[in-house]
Amino acid sequence: MTTTTNLPSAAELHTVKRAYDVQRIRRDFPILARDVRGKKLVYLDNAATSQKPQIVLDAIARYYEQENANIHRGVHFLSELATSKHDHARQIVQKFINAPHAHEIVFVRGATEAINLVAQTYGRKHVSSCDEVLVTAMEHHSNIVPWQILCDEKNAKLRVAPINELGELIMAEFEKLIGPRTKIIAIPHVSNALGTVNPVAKIVELAHTRNIPVVVDGAQAAPHTKIDVQSLGCDFYAFSSHKMFGPMGMGVLYGKTELLEAMPPYQGGGDMISSVTFEKTIYNKLPFKFEAGTPDVAGAIGLGVAIEYLNAIGMDNIAAYEHELLAYATEKVSAISGVRLIGTARDKAGVLSFVMDNVHPHDIGTILDQEGIAIRTGHHCAQPVMQCFGIPATARASLALYNTKDEVDALAAGIKKVQEVFS
Ligand code: ALA
Repeated sequence: MTTTTNLPSAAELHTVKRAYDVQRIRRDFPILARDVRGKKLVYLDNAATSQKPQIVLDAIARYYEQENANIHRGVHFLSELATSKHDHARQIVQKFINAPHAHEIVFVRGATEAINLVAQTYGRKHVSSCDEVLVTAMEHHSNIVPWQILCDEKNAKLRVAPINELGELIMAEFEKLIGPRTKIIAIPHVSNALGTVNPVAKIVELAHTRNIPVVVDGAQAAPHTKIDVQSLGCDFYAFSSHKMFGPMGMGVLYGKTELLEAMPPYQGGGDMISSVTFEKTIYNKLPFKFEAGTPDVAGAIGLGVAIEYLNAIGMDNIAAYEHELLAYATEKVSAISGVRLIGTARDKAGVLSFVMDNVHPHDIGTILDQEGIAIRTGHHCAQPVMQCFGIPATARASLALYNTKDEVDALAAGIKKVQEVFS
């Protein structure tokens, strides 16, 4: 079988593998060069979705132009090639999060599907009437609703750990909520609405002393920070490709072997079986047991290349650069009178949520859009977070590895313009 891969060439990787050169990185993302409404695009909506580097776009195009075939189903050249590339992408993901085994990487549509998979398989098997699932007040809806559906079905209870005025988990309260009926703890690694980084390893330690598995929504962490599922110790970790410079519709569920082995399948269909008769079906081995139907092969390849791209720059370099950029943005934006930051946790990543006196966030977003600045406004699929802060919505600028201080300056100037319009 061929071992050809869609990885960036050594020459391609060489271009990014040197001192952090944000202008060089920007040139890898064609969309960043475009204008919007006659202005230079300032893309600050990365928590919603990130842009894609040319090598990811090329890898996807190359797959469909030269390599497309269904996997695990053919003895012909292209099927073997596609299968080998799909397998290789899984290994890239495995290494990226330091999972012990490639079969612990389940390809799904995104973090949302990953969490639903755990709720509908592990959850339905282990949660019974009067049991509890513990989440936090800073969840994205995708780490609330799947558990609500499960709790409704099982007559179980969803417990919610509170956050403080900075948007940090109140650990003493969190610990108090872990009880004998707690069957699952689900937390975000990084909050999408606030940017708070949670002490995942500490929470896992608390949970494991009571034999409770921990599900981590890592959608907002994966593009910004090194993930090591072994040092975090978590049982499940979910993330999406599109937020980390890969294609949309692709994502990952990491799960520990012994848990995945014991879980029933999520969906039935082709590829998730090893044999089928009308009397009895034997399920396939991991991870295929959870991957019914033709998978998104191009998506997996694109995600693999996106990860290689991140690796070439270095997750530590990215984290350090973004940390400095966030500090700069925090200082600039909070210095504007009438602006209040929502989410000021001591440990934060990539997100600057704010409100302004007498201006609705949607108006902020609309005026900034006229300046070519893309941010997200609204509740960010985290309505309970808004309720905690007593607000209906925020304006949210979210940063990525290609953003610059000039763009932060443009954001600050745009916010001042909003003030002028409303003064
Ligand atoms: N979860 C994405 C966001 O935070 C869509 O914007």
